[in-house]
Amino acid sequence: MEERRLGPVVGLGTWNTFGDDAELAGEVLGAAVGAGVRLVDSSPMYGGAERALGAALDGRRDDVAVATKIWAQSVGEGREQLRRQLGWFGRVELEQVHNLAAWREHLDWLEREQAEGRIGRIGVTHYDASAFDELAEAMRDRRVECVQLPYNPHERECEERLLPLAEELGLPVIVMRPLGSGSLLRREPPPERLEPLGVYTWAQALLVWALSDPRVDAVIPATRRPERARGNAAAGDGPRFDEEQRRYVAELAA
Ligand SMILES: NC(=O)c1ccc[n+]([C@@H]2O[C@H](COP(=O)([O-])OP(=O)(O)OC[C@H]3O[C@@H](n4cnc5c(N)ncnc54)[C@H](OP(=O)(O)O)[C@@H]3O)[C@@H](O)[C@H]2O)c1
Repeated sequence: MEERRLGPVVGLGTWNTFGDDAELAGEVLGAAVGAGVRLVDSSPMYGGAERALGAALDGRRDDVAVATKIWAQSVGEGREQLRRQLGWFGRVELEQVHNLAAWREHLDWLEREQAEGRIGRIGVTHYDASAFDELAEAMRDRRVECVQLPYNPHERECEERLLPLAEELGLPVIVMRPLGSGSLLRREPPPERLEPLGVYTWAQALLVWALSDPRVDAVIPATRRPERARGNAAAGDGPRFDEEQRRYVAELAA
C-alpha cells in the first residue's frame, strides 16, 4: 500500500454542481487545480458528473487523484461502472463503495482490479449516522484503505466511534459535506467575527475546522462557482485551529 496519509488537503466534490456540463466542469476544475487542489471526488450517482470530469481532466490528469465510487446493487453493474470510469479517467486512484451498497460483494472483485493495477486504494462511504455501525464493520475489513464520512459542526456523530476507529486502524478519512451541503452557509457570521480565526470566508473557517482534527486527511467541498473553488482551496494553505478556535467556530455555527 502507498503512503497512508492523503493530506491534510482540500479536494473538490462534484455532487450537484456541474452535472454533465463539461465546459463548466473545466472552469471549476481549472480554478480548483490552479489553486492547489489535487483530489476530486465523484460517483456514478452524480448524474453525468464523471463524464464531464473526465473531459475536464484532459491535459491535467496527472495533476489530480480521482476518487470515485461504485454505486451498484450487483457485481455486474459495478463492473460496468468501473469500465466506464476507466474510459473517462484511465485509472481510478481511490475506488469507494458508495453508501455501502452491496459492499461485501464489491470488495472481492475490487481487490482483483487493484491487484491488476486499474484502481489504487479501496474505500467505503456513508452519509447517514444510522449506518455507522455497518460503516465501522466495513472499515475493519482488511481490504478497506480509506473511509469517507460526514463531518461539520452540525454533524459530529463520527467523533464517537468512527474517527477513533480510523485512528486505531490507520485509515485515511475523507470528509464529505464539510459545509453541511450548503446549509451552514445560509447564515454567515459577520466578517469581524472571523478575524480571530485568520480566514477570509466562513466557508474557509468550516473547512479549516474539519482539517484541524488530526484524524482528518481531506475535505471535499463542492461548488459550481470557480471563484468559490479558489477560495475553498486556499483553506488548505493556512494554519490549523487549536481546540479553542474549533470551539469558537462550532459556537458561530450553532
Ligand atoms: N454518500 C456519499 O458518498 C456522499 C454523500 C454526500 C457528499 N459526498 C461527496 O462530498 C462532497 C461534498 O458534499 P456536498 O456536496 O454534499 O456538500 P458541501 O461541500 O458541504 O456543500 C456544497 C454546497 O455549498 C455551497 N458552497 C461551496 N463553497 C461555498 C462557498 N465558498 N461559499 C458559499 N457557498 C459555498 C455550494 O453551492 P454553490 O455550488 O452555489 O457554490 C453547495 O451548495 C460531494 O460533492 C460529494 O463529492 C459523498
